[in-house]
Amino acid sequence: MVETVSTNWSGLALVVGPGGIGSAVAAELSQSCPELKVLTAGRHGPPACSLRLDIENDRDLDRLATTLRAEEQPLRLVFNCSGRLHGPELQPEKRLQQVERSALEQQFGINAIAPILLAKAIEPLLQRNQPFHFASLSARVGSIGDNRTGGWYGYRAAKAAQNQLLRSLSIEWARRWPLATVSLLHPGTTDTALSRPFQSFVAPEKLFSPERAARQLVAVLLQQTPAQSGAFLAWDGQSIDW
Ligand SMILES: NC(=O)c1ccc[n+]([C@@H]2O[C@H](COP(=O)([O-])OP(=O)(O)OC[C@H]3O[C@@H](n4cnc5c(N)ncnc54)[C@H](OP(=O)(O)O)[C@@H]3O)[C@@H](O)[C@H]2O)c1
Repeated sequence: MVETVSTNWSGLALVVGPGGIGSAVAAELSQSCPELKVLTAGRHGPPACSLRLDIENDRDLDRLATTLRAEEQPLRLVFNCSGRLHGPELQPEKRLQQVERSALEQQFGINAIAPILLAKAIEPLLQRNQPFHFASLSARVGSIGDNRTGGWYGYRAAKAAQNQLLRSLSIEWARRWPLATVSLLHPGTTDTALSRPFQSFVAPEKLFSPERAARQLVAVLLQQTPAQSGAFLAWDGQSIDW
């Protein structure tokens, strides 16, 4: 099990998607990195979180850099914890005949397109001589090599697409922002609204509380350096097959 590492990270941290894991990640970052000013951003805005941000909305993304610049602190970390597996009109597919265009578009919108556009939106704040981490929650089920059970077509494919988009980002940023580190992180199955309908398949000892997931994710994140940029890692720091 990974222990929390205390570090001297300082500046501004933005946690996007303050759901079950995102809220716990924001709390964990505040505790383990006291020099960080941690902001949360989500669709519900204050008081639920510090900033209103719908990362599926281009106008919100266009405003983000200006809002963060007003904080007058270097941007040290952006951690995207948003995502969607199911919703009022969205259910993960069990078989081909359940695959629908609108559901695929919804899955790709939030789980693949939004994270790369978030990176694009905050890029104007990066500086060549400042360390910076960009992390985004992926999922082991997005691994093509690890796909042995099928199903969940849209969610799996959207997470795989996110992995490819952020891997490309890590290669571009290694040239342009040599102190930037991009990480794709799998939190492990965690007790949140996202996983709740599917928890009956999970052994109780394999279901993490959001607090435990956040502790493990932050510990892995704090160990990442630009040399490891572009990695797809599980909650225990182990590399996951693409
Ligand atoms: N829980 C697990 O077992 C598990 C396992 C593997 C991977 N993951 C990944 O971990 C991430 C976090 O999941 P979670 O379990 O914490 O789920 P969650 O509690 O449902 O949180 C998801 C968050 O994403 C936000 N969000 C959705 N659309 C958004 C948008 N357009 N703009 C801004 N925020 C938006 C949601 O806010 P709203 O209230 O606005 O919808 C919510 O705060 C997801 O990417 C998920 O795929 C989770």
